[in-house]
Amino acid sequence: LESGCLSIVVLGASGDLAKKKTFPALFHLFRQGFLQSNEVHIFGYARTKISSEELRERLRGYLSKGKEDSVEELDYLSKFLQLIKYVSGSYDSEEGFQLLNKEILEHESSKRSQLGTSRRLFYLALPPSVYPSVCKMIRNYCMNQSDLTGWTRIIVEKPFGKDLGSSEELSAQLGELFDEKQLYRIDHYLGKELVQNLLVVRFANRFFLPLWNRDNIDNVQIVFREDFGTEGRGGYFDEYGIIRDIIQNHLLQVFCLVAMEKPVSLKPEHIRDEKVKVLQSVLPIKLEEVVLGQYDGYKDDQTVSPNSNTPTFATVILRIHNERWEGVPFILKAGKALNSRKAEIRVQFKEVPGDIYKCQKQGRNEFVIRLQPLEAMYMKLTVKKPGLEMSTIQSELDLSYKQRYQDVAIPEAYERLILDTIRGDQQHFVRRDELKAAWEIFTPLLHRIEDGELKPLPYKPGSRGPAEADQLLAKAGYVQTHGY
Ligand code: BG6
Repeated sequence: LESGCLSIVVLGASGDLAKKKTFPALFHLFRQGFLQSNEVHIFGYARTKISSEELRERLRGYLSKGKEDSVEELDYLSKFLQLIKYVSGSYDSEEGFQLLNKEILEHESSKRSQLGTSRRLFYLALPPSVYPSVCKMIRNYCMNQSDLTGWTRIIVEKPFGKDLGSSEELSAQLGELFDEKQLYRIDHYLGKELVQNLLVVRFANRFFLPLWNRDNIDNVQIVFREDFGTEGRGGYFDEYGIIRDIIQNHLLQVFCLVAMEKPVSLKPEHIRDEKVKVLQSVLPIKLEEVVLGQYDGYKDDQTVSPNSNTPTFATVILRIHNERWEGVPFILKAGKALNSRKAEIRVQFKEVPGDIYKCQKQGRNEFVIRLQPLEAMYMKLTVKKPGLEMSTIQSELDLSYKQRYQDVAIPEAYERLILDTIRGDQQHFVRRDELKAAWEIFTPLLHRIEDGELKPLPYKPGSRGPAEADQLLAKAGYVQTHGY
């Protein structure tokens, strides 16, 4: 990392996201030596009227969980908490942001003489409704003015709008205030270890190069399941639904990396160019290739509308109109309150032509990338059943990270992405045209759901979701395989 004075401002510091994701990620970075106490200061900003000490104590309670027995860890935590200062103010208050700027300047002037460069990172752990006003305040009062070699960067969290129109409006508002180079639209799936691994596996292995196309691949599934409901977030969720919460962003980002062409180089812009291209090649979604669900009991939440039509489950088939993928269904599936918690990519190959072993009834070849839990990649293949008889079974070539990389701690997605922002690497962030292309795919469908053309089917919490989703999968050509 370049050296210099670094001010990290967490806006929405007293909220849930900051507590559960942002501060723990910052603490891990500090713990590993990426944030040096002589350079860094962390500012919390929010409306809640508490003191710096109160924020530190709240965070101590959360961050010390599981570390109670380690004096060394608790000592690190205390040192980290000492770096945090809190400023209270509303999100459109000139005085609040002037005060914040004063605090940042004080920190900078105490460090500048030794360190030179001043770097300011603003993390918006806030509801998007306040983005425009907060960004205006940052632009007017908190930009890094005095140091030409420094920078100001902004991390924004989804949802970036609710459809194409509102997202474009938000992009235009932020675009007037900041350069695209300063905006880091975070999608934490891009920070997951196995998501970051996708391009490597595809483009650095001779095995896959000739196979990764419509001639060999029958269908691709990208699946997200959670075994809990909207717990405590019903109000937010009811307004957005599973397509906006998971599919239009997290699963679509994974889809891009699975389906895009090889980039010219590893430069962030080259990679993002290819992602945009594949998104622009997606055909309009057909209503008959969508199944929606809502789990029983979802509407018991007081913050959810009693007539809610919001889907908590969706299966949507995307089809790409290009030479590589014509005719191959990409099945994106996400659901809350299902039977397990899992995110995986399942690439299913076509059957072996002229099959002399009659092995197809045991299942097709599959390449599975399990993003979580227990990161793994495995290939399902047919082998001779060990023993005297000559028959075949399905088995796995299995790379399970826990066994293979025992000594490596896999970093949290947020940790990695915050570090990328400090380094100025935008590869794993969503570019404005990419976001637009993503909304173009889903907006017509979302509007038709809102118009009541498509209704969610009920499903039991703890189940696989509506049976109709499995029927759609079978219709798309997916053949259930055995084993894993
Ligand atoms: C968030 C969604 O973006 O991702 C949540 O808003 C969801 O609804 C979460 O639970 C899932 O993230 P992860 O990393 O636990 O798969």
